[in-house]
Amino acid sequence: PKRIFSGIQPTGSIHLGNYLGAIAQWIKLQQENENLILSIADLHSITLPHDPEKLSQNIFELTATLLACGINTQKTILFQQSTVHTHAELSWCLGCITTMARLAHLPQYKEKSVELKDIPLGLFVYPVLQAADILAYKATHVPVGEDQVQQIQLAQELTRIFNHKFGQTFPTPHTLITSSEYGRIKSLRNPTKKMSKSDPDIKSRICLTDSTDDIVNKIKKAVTDFTSEVTFNPEERPGVSNLISIHSFVTNKSVDDICREAENLNTGQYKMVVADAVVSYIKPIQESISRYLDDKTYLVGILEEGRDKAFGISQNTLEEVHQKMGLKVLL
Ligand code: TYM
Repeated sequence: PKRIFSGIQPTGSIHLGNYLGAIAQWIKLQQENENLILSIADLHSITLPHDPEKLSQNIFELTATLLACGINTQKTILFQQSTVHTHAELSWCLGCITTMARLAHLPQYKEKSVELKDIPLGLFVYPVLQAADILAYKATHVPVGEDQVQQIQLAQELTRIFNHKFGQTFPTPHTLITSSEYGRIKSLRNPTKKMSKSDPDIKSRICLTDSTDDIVNKIKKAVTDFTSEVTFNPEERPGVSNLISIHSFVTNKSVDDICREAENLNTGQYKMVVADAVVSYIKPIQESISRYLDDKTYLVGILEEGRDKAFGISQNTLEEVHQKMGLKVLL
C-alpha cells in the first residue's frame, strides 16, 4: 500500500512557494483519499540559531495554517516531530551508516554553511534526520517542492544501504513533485532564485499571513524585465512567468487563457490583476488561520492526537531496526 509522508519546518511564515509546491499537493492527495502523515519538523528548525519563543509560536501558527489550508486530521496524521522521539533515535541509527563525504556534497548544506563561521553539527546531519522522518513510517511517496529532491535521494540511498546490510526493511521512498511550474516558485526580488523562508528580504515572498497592502506592494515591486507584454517564457522571462504561474494557480485558469486575457495590459497593469487574485485567494485562508489561533487548546489537542498516532507507527519501525541491527538481546 501507498504511504505518503512529508514535512514542513515551523520557521517563519508559510509562503506561496510552500503552498503551491507542497501544501496544495497534500490537500489534493488527501482529497483522493490517500493516507498522509505530515510532520511539523521542529527538530529541523533548531539546526540554525533561533529564538525559542518565536519557534513555539511558529509551531502553533503552522498547525493553524495547515488546518486552515484544509488538512483534515480525521484522515491525515498531523504531528510535531520533537514529540515523537523515534525520529531522533532512528536518525542516530541511520547516521551510523552515512558517510561524512556524502553529506558534505548536499547543496542545502553547502549553501547554508558558507554564511556561517561555526557550522553546527545538526546542520550537517539535517538530511539524515529527514531520512529518518521518512523511513520511520516506511513511506513510499514523499510530496515536496523541487528543492527537496537531493535530500530525498539520500533517504533512497540509506534505504538501499540499510536493506543491503541488515535485510529488507524499508520500501524505496519516491519523490512526488506537483509540476515543474509549481514545484519551484521563484523569489519576487530575484526570479532566478526560489522563494524562500530564509531570504532576508521579506519582499521576496508572499506569506499566507501578509496583509492586503503587503501583498499588493510586494507584487507591484516584483522584479520583471524590460518587455511590457505579458507572455509566458520561464527561461527568458522568469519574473513575469512566475507571476503567471502564481496567477494560474490561484484562479485555476490555464496559462494560455491568462496570457490571452492580459493581451492589452502591460506588466505593470497585469501585476494589479495578479495581486487582486492572490488577495481573494488568500483572504479566506487568513481568516480561518486566525480563528484556529484563537483556540490554542484545540490546537494542542490536535497535536497530541497526531503524536499518539505517529508514535504508534514509528515505534514499530524503530523496534524492527533495533532488532535487525542487533540491538535487541534475545534469549
Ligand atoms: P521547508 O519547510 O523548507 O518547505 C516545506 C515545503 O515547501 C516546499 N517549498 C517550495 N516549493 C515550491 N517553490 C518554492 N519556492 C518552495 N519553497 C519551499 C519544499 O520543497 C517543501 O516541500 N527539509 C524540509 C522539511 C522536512 C521534510 C521531511 C520534507 C523535514 N522532514 C521529510 C519531506 C520529508 C524543509 O525544510 O521544507
